[in-house]
Amino acid sequence: MKKILTIIGARPQIIKAAALSRAIRGSFADQFQEVIVHTGQHYDANMSEQFFAELEIPAPDYNLRAGSGKHGEQTARMIAGIEGILEKEQPDYLILYGDTNSTLAGAVAASKMQVPIVHIEAGLRSFNKAMPEEINRILSDHVSTYLFPPTVAGMENLVKEGFGIKTEPPYSMDKPGVFNVGDVMYDNSTYFSMIADRQVNLKDAYGLESGKYVLATLHRNTNTDDPIRLQAILEAFQEISHRYEVEVVIPLHPRTRKQLEALLEVSFRQALEDNTRLRFLPPVSFLEMIALEKGATVVMTDSGGVQKEAFFFGKPCLILRAETEWVEIVTSGAALLCDADKELIVASFQAIVAQPPTDFPLLYGNGDAAGQILQILLGEGRELTH
Ligand code: UD1
Ligand code: UDP
Repeated sequence: MKKILTIIGARPQIIKAAALSRAIRGSFADQFQEVIVHTGQHYDANMSEQFFAELEIPAPDYNLRAGSGKHGEQTARMIAGIEGILEKEQPDYLILYGDTNSTLAGAVAASKMQVPIVHIEAGLRSFNKAMPEEINRILSDHVSTYLFPPTVAGMENLVKEGFGIKTEPPYSMDKPGVFNVGDVMYDNSTYFSMIADRQVNLKDAYGLESGKYVLATLHRNTNTDDPIRLQAILEAFQEISHRYEVEVVIPLHPRTRKQLEALLEVSFRQALEDNTRLRFLPPVSFLEMIALEKGATVVMTDSGGVQKEAFFFGKPCLILRAETEWVEIVTSGAALLCDADKELIVASFQAIVAQPPTDFPLLYGNGDAAGQILQILLGEGRELTH
């Protein structure tokens, strides 16, 4: 029996962890035991707790309650906590997801203790080191023993950084194994899509009709912490809601809610409130989010996960960033990069509604990335190249 220690902390990591956790408790119950460590990076019930029951994830064995704060302070609290748990639990593998400060903390603690790191969602790059996530993902990749890029682009980025894709086991930090088995988020969207259909009624919950609204999310620090960018994006939402007489539904990240109040003029906030077509919601559950994505005509977002889920569900997407790590969504024509440019967002909305994308190729695996990852850890998987 191999012991896996899983680090989660931010909302998307809790969601991603559901896929592997499900596989461990299912087909791999005799081979793996999972210990879950929640760093406490996200802590509001609607950013954390609500996902565990809904996604059938066991309650965390540890919660470090690291909370919010400056990057160094927050990450340092997590590193210290994870180090203590690694000493006690002596796991065979440490699983890390994505690119948050919780990911980096796990990478620093485990690499110094020679615990093999399994980085799920490795290799993604924005080529913009002003993003805290770009720092976190590069550093985490370079101390990992198993790297699982979810896309061909991720694989290629790693090759350019010197990773070999033909290495033979045993793997180590100095001779890591790199595998493209698809995306655990695709596993989850596939698995939970029908459950969402059965359990969520958007009409009852929010008075929404499928095909009659646009879905938007916004939380990237470059957008929320700069009043000019923040206002430009919200003005674009205003304009779209008026010009196309369409509701814009916005489940709001707590970071954004705080910054709306801190950075925007009272008169502009009042104008947002007065616009009955703008529907600001608290963060919603994953099943509700899937239902909202499936019912939307267009998705507008700066979220990595929401960009991809829009693609999984065949929805056109406007990306509220200058660049994306999920380049294949843009090159396939399913999404347009709009930055925080009001005119560009509105024009792109018009263009994508006039001519909706029809090509949503299968780019993220076959819905069994989690099972393949566990097989590879058992030494039974295949090494994939592109
Ligand atoms: C983090 C990740 C980001 C990821 C996002 C997912 C880093 C550097 N960033 O960004 O990559 O896309 O999570 O959602 O790790 N807050 C609350 N309640 C909570 C959590 C946060 O009120 O439960 C507020 C606090 O004011 C906090 C702010 O949100 O200061 C930012 O939280 P933080 O976890 O530092 O970064 P995110 O913006 O959530
Ligand atoms: N999500 C959710 N409720 C919300 C907003 C997002 O369940 O109110 C889910 C979404 O479906 C996706 C994930 O959270 O699976 C994306 O997380 P987020 O946008 O916070 O971070 P990112 O993916 O940009 O790191």
